[in-house]
Amino acid sequence: METELFVINDIEKDHDKLERAAGLIKNGSLVAFPTETVYGLGANALDGQAVRRIFDVKGRPMDNPLILHIPDMLWLKRYCLDIPPEAYKLAERFWPGPLTMVLKRKSTVPDEVTAGLHTVAVRCPNHKVALRLIRLVGAPVAAPSANISGRPSPTKAGHVLYDLSGKIAGVVDGGSCMVGVESTIVDLSAKPYKILRPGGVTPEQLSEVLGPVGLDSGVLQAPKDSETVKAPGMKYRHYAPKAQVILLMGDIEKAAGFVNRLDRETTGVLCFDEEIPHFKGKYILSYGKRDDYAAQAQKLFHCLRALDEKRVKTIYARCPESSGVGLAVSNRLLKASGYQIVEV
Ligand code: TXA
Ligand code: MG
Repeated sequence: METELFVINDIEKDHDKLERAAGLIKNGSLVAFPTETVYGLGANALDGQAVRRIFDVKGRPMDNPLILHIPDMLWLKRYCLDIPPEAYKLAERFWPGPLTMVLKRKSTVPDEVTAGLHTVAVRCPNHKVALRLIRLVGAPVAAPSANISGRPSPTKAGHVLYDLSGKIAGVVDGGSCMVGVESTIVDLSAKPYKILRPGGVTPEQLSEVLGPVGLDSGVLQAPKDSETVKAPGMKYRHYAPKAQVILLMGDIEKAAGFVNRLDRETTGVLCFDEEIPHFKGKYILSYGKRDDYAAQAQKLFHCLRALDEKRVKTIYARCPESSGVGLAVSNRLLKASGYQIVEV
């Protein structure tokens, strides 16, 4: 299959291209598109057969449900039941934006989307191209991140093409994603409400609307085999480049001392801007200042992919504090490493 590329520079001038991309989705094909978080791989969510193709193409386990993308909160009641008032309060404050809500589902949502669960995840992305595309499709768009399952999520159209070229009908190129890590997922289907996945909307921000809100235990530690994982996607190794990621904790002098003794051809480093001068290797990338979590989130997946292109075997990564958006960055790094940590 040839993958058609729709480059959108100006949403009005390029409207025809978006109409074409929407037409492909309406006909049951898969088209990747930009959101403010990461690129999504879109299918018409009301077409079970189209949704099944997402799982095939990504190599995604069938028990891992998808997020419904809708253009505004008025669509919530078409697909969700028993919507608590807090859902509307959150939508008013954070939509369009990087927040996904898990709510009880209506039977209008095909089983393929929810992997048979009684709940459905819904979000309204903060991206003009995504919103226009969904409206043109005229139905909710089911979209996981547009990568091969397990790989770092795509934050540019080039990343999507690298993973999925020839396997999907189209890619809408709307430039680089601003947030860079996936949306925050909050479960509102049962009390107490809980954060299943940290993302662009922070726990601090959520608690301004919900009061204190807990974090699912899988966010910062490996789920135990016996535990039922609330967001099924979080139990798999995830976000991982081909190289082995290892988190490098401890003081920068010692950390650099440790890495500088290793083979420079096969070792990559992901560090903070101010740490660059300490490392002597060949493949050293920085992803923002130590306390600039937004910059780190935006660059994280791109840097992991860029280090992979250098064919390093191991990537030693410096991890931010777990506050604000730093929580999402640490969570993705932990999952990418399969919880491998070196403490110097
Ligand atoms: O930012 C994002 O959320 C991106 C963009 C494309 O919108 N999408 C995304 O989708 O990250 P995906 O499929 O890569 O991750 C969705 C996560 C998975 O961990 C899945 O298990 C969880 O959401 N999820 C989906 N439906 C759920 C449900 N009903 N209950 C609990 N978790 C759910
Ligand atoms: Mg994903």
